[in-house]
Amino acid sequence: MIFTGSVSGDLSEFFKGFSKLSREERYKKLIEIGALQPEEASFLKHGGIKDMALAENFIENVIGYFQIPMGVVTNFKIDGRDFVIPMAVEETSIIAAASKTAKWVREEGEITTETVGNLIIGQIQVAHVKDFTSFAEKVTALSPEWIERSNRDVAHGLVARGGGVREIQVRQVPRGDGGFMAVIHVLADPCDAMGANIINQVCEYLKHPVEAETGELVTMCILSNLVDTKLTRATVRLPKIDPVLGKKIEEASLFALQDPYRAATNNKGVLNGIDPILIATGNDWRAVEAGIHAYAARDGQYRSITRWKMEGEDLVGIFEAPLVVGTVGGVTKLHPTAQLALNMMKVDSAAHLSRICAAVGLVQNLGALKALTTVGIIEGHMKLHIKNLTLGAGALEKEVPLVQKRLEEILLLTKRITLSNAVEVLREIRAAAAGTAAPTKVAPVTVSQSSGSVHPS
Ligand code: MEV
Repeated sequence: MIFTGSVSGDLSEFFKGFSKLSREERYKKLIEIGALQPEEASFLKHGGIKDMALAENFIENVIGYFQIPMGVVTNFKIDGRDFVIPMAVEETSIIAAASKTAKWVREEGEITTETVGNLIIGQIQVAHVKDFTSFAEKVTALSPEWIERSNRDVAHGLVARGGGVREIQVRQVPRGDGGFMAVIHVLADPCDAMGANIINQVCEYLKHPVEAETGELVTMCILSNLVDTKLTRATVRLPKIDPVLGKKIEEASLFALQDPYRAATNNKGVLNGIDPILIATGNDWRAVEAGIHAYAARDGQYRSITRWKMEGEDLVGIFEAPLVVGTVGGVTKLHPTAQLALNMMKVDSAAHLSRICAAVGLVQNLGALKALTTVGIIEGHMKLHIKNLTLGAGALEKEVPLVQKRLEEILLLTKRITLSNAVEVLREIRAAAAGTAAPTKVAPVTVSQSSGSVHPS
């Protein structure tokens, strides 16, 4: 275990009952284990970032911050190492489902991860190439010199950190009108940066030599988010799984592989595990989403980015996609909450962060497929919905457990629960506490749409 606190033994034991603790007790535990420093806990406790001047550094026309909740996912052991993983997300049950499924995997199986390749891609388009063959020959002959010049004049900082431009390739892309355009790919190792700025700078720098030395006209230069030269892979193996459950998950996976309608929802579930980590760490989640969706459609049909299969008695799941993130530079460096989130995971590189994201996405997917092929999605969400309804009805803190318990009983009986049920139950509980049958009028507080009627249909 790499956590520096005084905790020894199984981390899952340490975090047992974490969700039932008060926020204060959660901070204490995270400090005890070294996932948070006392000043970081205090920063979070007091509402996090408030510095409006800092916001002006990030975007234009600033008028404030948009706060979304941040929680921690527990029970993850990835490549044999324990993690406490921060997630910034507004959707109920994502953190609960990830923690619960991670516990299952931790107890019965394992998660391993790897990165395949380390190069990002920049593109230079020549829309109307006069002679593609001659252009390609010139680019190939000139590329060693262009690589050297790019590294010397633009990417020297990256070169000093062990990265830099590595390769230049040419592709012929159909125009759709019978003709072709030429596209140069500039491949660079961005080290721990996401690399967007540097690869764009290199491509724009190369525009002049490309035009001057090939006689062709460059149309535009920009990075590609379809980074199939830098893939992240996560594997979950659950040995000796209940064969009926294993088969059901395999079938659910086949559904998402073959049907784009299902693939979209499957991948949304995977991204439920990934995006909240990207947001918490100040990473560009739109870039990751774009790359993942493009990779999911790489053979011409949109498919799932996860696969689950029975291998003998074991259920094996794989996530594979581009997942380019950064741990240095930009918002990751400047935003104090992003820094804190990175510290919490104790990641040692950008590739490491991308492997954690992949592992959580895959486990999130497993949790969803297990629920969908057994009890269904509603049951899993129900406890949290009941809590929302309870609060929506206006229950006080001390009344919450009683109302929730009664609503769970009603749900079991009627398979349906509404805000009116919660209001009625609260009225009965208050009447009973007052020792009177005369009902007190209870006014529900405004609740969001999702806290309203919950019914499987
Ligand atoms: C809901 O946020 C995500 C799921 O729809 C994912 C899935 O269907 O696999 C449950």
